[in-house]
Amino acid sequence: MYDLEDLYQEIVMDHNRRPRNFGEIKNPTNSANGFNPLCGDQITLQLHLKDGLVSDLAFIGVGCAISKSSASMMTEELKGKTLDHAENLFEAFRKMITRNPGDSYDSDLLGDLEILQGVSRYPARIKCATLAWHTLHSAIHDENNVVSTE
Ligand code: FES
Repeated sequence: MYDLEDLYQEIVMDHNRRPRNFGEIKNPTNSANGFNPLCGDQITLQLHLKDGLVSDLAFIGVGCAISKSSASMMTEELKGKTLDHAENLFEAFRKMITRNPGDSYDSDLLGDLEILQGVSRYPARIKCATLAWHTLHSAIHDENNVVSTE
């Protein structure tokens, strides 16, 4: 039977194998490093911000399938979008991933990112899914420190 769990596996594995926007961009205006000390996974995210838009972004790093997929999907979702949208998406994604069973979240805003909602059932993987997003938040606010999940 083909269900949501199969779709989740398929999408996560696809982004893990072929991460989108993986690499570096020319002339980044903002960047940040994220680190999960529990596993050693890390990500570097570069953004080019112009006129209130995320005109380009890319990431490099080493991470598990969930962290890499989450970063890949995040970059796909944000390219060309406004900074306000990026902030709203950050909050919506964090709320979805860290929610308690039965809590609602904004599935319309999240779109394809909703495929990662099942991660909320696995506390050990929540930091995998949010690493790129915390790094994004730091990059937007140009905080020149390493973001740690701990
Ligand atoms: Fe390290 Fe997922 S196991 S970020």
